[in-house]
Amino acid sequence: MIKATFSLLLLLLSSFVSIVTATPPARIKLCSTGCPAEAGIVGAAYSLVMTNEPSGNYLVSATIDKNGILTPFEAVYTEGIGAHGVRPDAIGPLDALFSQGSVGVSNTQKFVANVNAGSHTISVFAINGANSASLEMIGEPVSSGGEFPTSLVINEAGDRVCVVNGGKVNGVSCYNFVPGMGLIPLGNTIRSLNLNQTTPATGPANTPSQIYFSPNETQLIVSVKAGFLAVWDINPDGSLSNNFKTIPGGILPFSLLYVPGKNAIIASDPGIGYDIFDLDTNTTATFEIPGQTLTCWSVFSKESGNFYMVDVGVSTISEVHVAESLDSYIVEQYLLGSDGPIDSAVATVDKHDLIISLAANVTGLTVLAVNGPGAAAVHQHLDLGGPAQAAKLMLRSSNVQGMATFIRK
Ligand SMILES: *[C@@H]1O[C@H](CO)[C@@H](O)[C@H](O)[C@H]1NC(C)=O
Ligand SMILES: *[C@@H]1O[C@H](CO)[C@@H](O)[C@H](O)[C@H]1NC(C)=O
Ligand SMILES: *[C@@H]1O[C@H](CO)[C@@H](O)[C@H](O)[C@H]1NC(C)=O
Ligand SMILES: *[C@@H]1O[C@H](CO)[C@@H](O)[C@H](O)[C@H]1NC(C)=O
Repeated sequence: MIKATFSLLLLLLSSFVSIVTATPPARIKLCSTGCPAEAGIVGAAYSLVMTNEPSGNYLVSATIDKNGILTPFEAVYTEGIGAHGVRPDAIGPLDALFSQGSVGVSNTQKFVANVNAGSHTISVFAINGANSASLEMIGEPVSSGGEFPTSLVINEAGDRVCVVNGGKVNGVSCYNFVPGMGLIPLGNTIRSLNLNQTTPATGPANTPSQIYFSPNETQLIVSVKAGFLAVWDINPDGSLSNNFKTIPGGILPFSLLYVPGKNAIIASDPGIGYDIFDLDTNTTATFEIPGQTLTCWSVFSKESGNFYMVDVGVSTISEVHVAESLDSYIVEQYLLGSDGPIDSAVATVDKHDLIISLAANVTGLTVLAVNGPGAAAVHQHLDLGGPAQAAKLMLRSSNVQGMATFIRK
């Protein structure tokens, strides 16, 4: 009897041990040989993507040096798990979250936030930890206020974060960011999008794409791939109007960017190319990018004054100029082989803009130097898949998502 109890205890112990060893490591170096010297990093500059793996979601960083050259650095566990949306259309496995903005950076408060779509949580990390190039998690992940969070936005002051959920329980939710404490849920900000959805979301059609603040932060905007923007008014105490207003337009409005100086939004649209929402007149114009198939992401470069629309389907970035009148035209197109670029962000290094795209199809990064209007050129191709495999980090084309950059000022 005593012996039987003892062996049962051993069994329990050994299964406990295997659970413990199955916990993902908190930090995985991706540069065991050739880690950049701290001095060579532009006061801690990096780009971040996330693995979005169901076995454990990691933020993967690459440092940026003074010449704008990226080097894989490390992967940090988010204490959450990733997820992949359901795709009945079988267009392809890339873009697991149907979103732009799954990872965000506050340059003001120096923190990073990301969505964990499989655990319905948001994680936050301090950038200014002991090692200026390393992220330090703050507290524990917090509930996203719904299911299948896919995109988040951080305000200019860095004290407010809002997230959009795309699953069965969909809609938005906001938080205060408190340094050292993390995200504190903000009252009266959980609002539904009333989408008939599943968890994980079924898409890409009928899913939210990106969450965004208006420039003066009086409105919270979500693009929905059902031909509309949902707009909530933000009250002075941070709470949201009970219902959203609908601004119809486009086919599958995806990523959102304000046109500088205008009350207008340019949205990528995989249904046609891009849309321009004029918020003064409530009119929307759609624009075709000939040959496009999946124009889902976009960035703006101050250096060129132009927008760059990213199409994973034909592996092409189209540079678009939007005039004061909101007329627009394609300036140039950049063909990127089989890179399959998705989420992208701009990093300004020594007054020059770099467009860093997550090259999902080749599990790497594609870096373009903007070089002024119409003159972008590939600056670097960075492999992440090889270093990840060597470090035993699960990083796959089908799940990898997100892009944010941080440049210490
Ligand atoms: C929600 O979607 C499902 C699947 O398409 C459909 O069967 C159901 O009728 C829809 N429900 C509502 C309320 O529209
Ligand atoms: C914020 O911007 C909108 C759009 O330009 C404008 O209508 C509104 O009056 C502004 N609100 C404040 C408080 O500045
Ligand atoms: C635009 O739509 C919003 C929301 O429906 C409304 O409040 C506003 O008055 C409209 N503006 C114009 C110019 O039609
Ligand atoms: C992705 O890579 C495969 C080869 O691995 C290639 O056949 C395919 O065309 C690529 N897709 C895109 C969008 O470039």
